[in-house]
Amino acid sequence: MFKIRKVDRTNFKDIPDPCKHCLYWQTSGPDEKMLKPEMESKKREWVKKVVRRFGNCCFIAYLSGVPIGFVQYAPAEFFPRVKEYASGPPSKDSVFLACLYIINEDVRGKGLGTAMLENFLTELRGKGFRAVETFARKSSENNPSGPLKFYLKHGFKIKADRNDFPLVRFDLPT
Ligand SMILES: CC(C)(COP(=O)(O)OP(=O)(O)OC[C@H]1O[C@@H](n2cnc3c(N)ncnc32)[C@H](O)[C@@H]1OP(=O)(O)O)[C@@H](O)C(=O)NCCC(=O)NCCS
Repeated sequence: MFKIRKVDRTNFKDIPDPCKHCLYWQTSGPDEKMLKPEMESKKREWVKKVVRRFGNCCFIAYLSGVPIGFVQYAPAEFFPRVKEYASGPPSKDSVFLACLYIINEDVRGKGLGTAMLENFLTELRGKGFRAVETFARKSSENNPSGPLKFYLKHGFKIKADRNDFPLVRFDLPT
């Protein structure tokens, strides 16, 4: 059975590796140190801070009780890394989708990523947000939020296109 849950203090431990200790978006500059297991407590602090100031910012996807996917989002001001993307900056009226990732390769391509995206869009719409933006990737799916094709298929439009990582936007229906 497939379930998607918000992250809180009871299930933070379920965030799949490497997402549980990944601070790629929370930092800037060289990123090789930002994927070390010892970063987990910093990630936990970051989640607490964003929940306090913005509200829920992460989901975990479970398949038969096993965590297989992760979604991370917030206003772009919480993600210093966005400044390094040539197609940016994301608009101030949008929520930035930093990661949408199915860790287990054997369950990709079965509609679960679509279900995670739809769940996330429904949550934002329910809270009255206007739009979502992310940096999708043209040449590969190896990208925190996945490939451009996935977003075009789901109604996102290219907003700025300066390199392999165009900024794409979805306006939430009011
Ligand atoms: C991108 C991702 C979230 C999509 O989730 P998914 O469950 O595999 O995708 P879905 O089955 O819901 O696909 C829906 C549509 O998106 C598109 N799509 C999905 N994955 C794609 C890919 N790798 N390349 C091109 N299009 C893709 C297709 O159009 C697909 O529709 P189709 O099956 O009718 O062709 C998932 O495949 C993933 O996490 N991949 C790894 C990405 C990665 O390496 N991230 C690094 C993180 S640091």
